[in-house]
Amino acid sequence: MIDFKDNKDQKNIIELRGIGQSYDNGENWIIKNLDFIIEDKPAQGQFVVIMGMSGSGKSTLLRYIAGLQKPTEGSVKVNDKPVDDENRVSMVFQQYSSLPWMSVLENVGLALKFQGVSKEERDKKAMEMIEMMGLKGHEHKFAQYPTLSGGQLQRVAIGRSLLANSEILLMDEPFGALDVKTRLQMQDLLLDIWNKFHPTIVFVTHDISEAVYLGDDIYILKSAPSHFVEHIKVDLPFSRGREIKREKRFIELVHEIENRMVDIETIS
Ligand SMILES: Nc1ncnc2c1ncn2[C@@H]1O[C@H](COP(=O)(O)OP(=O)(O)O)[C@@H](O)[C@H]1O
Ligand SMILES: [Mg+2]
Repeated sequence: MIDFKDNKDQKNIIELRGIGQSYDNGENWIIKNLDFIIEDKPAQGQFVVIMGMSGSGKSTLLRYIAGLQKPTEGSVKVNDKPVDDENRVSMVFQQYSSLPWMSVLENVGLALKFQGVSKEERDKKAMEMIEMMGLKGHEHKFAQYPTLSGGQLQRVAIGRSLLANSEILLMDEPFGALDVKTRLQMQDLLLDIWNKFHPTIVFVTHDISEAVYLGDDIYILKSAPSHFVEHIKVDLPFSRGREIKREKRFIELVHEIENRMVDIETIS
């Protein structure tokens, strides 16, 4: 079991404590006594990866942070405030999380619309974001497949999420459905975003190489009931390029994690 240190002087950006989840009035607990704490590192940000078998509770944890679900027990705080209807974080899913009946421009500016920002102002901000996402020229197209490709739709979702809140990006297997080349491009786009905004990214993936390439901290979740069993600190340079995947330490980390994942699932 991973012990998240309880340092009173530390400011946390994400704080889940004593989480329990039951869907049958406490007969079975899918999650029990789970803590998950991410320290706030303003101006630096961090890239936290969650891995674990299907059904281990990864998506559920992201849904708590996003405010899409409340746990049966425990508290969920973002920036020291309980997550509620006013304090939500948007999320990027594997399936395209855009609204297909709206244009790219409307999708990206959606959160600003809810915040009451004028159309002129939100179109301006959305266009800046669209440019940053490499989507210029597509702003008036509907955010739907096949008008836009899978990679472009994920760019729309990331841009929308960043414009809503550039501090936290929640991503649930966001590149799982993309072809290899697009996936690699999206990974590098995400590293660029990370260098620019320094957000705290919580990222779920099944791809170990992707986890090591992107992550600073990798946490492995085990089910029945869900709890974190491993924390791997990725000791690679902050600024990464694709060539790092050929380096000894990168390859060692991938093997180390692969072995731990196999061990975790055989010891139950
Ligand atoms: N509405 C629900 N009713 C009962 N069980 C659920 C419900 N939603 C999720 N679960 C269970 O919670 C567990 C964790 O699910 P999930 O967070 O989706 O896992 P992961 O994303 O790691 O694959 C799974 O065992 C799943 O079957
Ligand atoms: Mg899931």
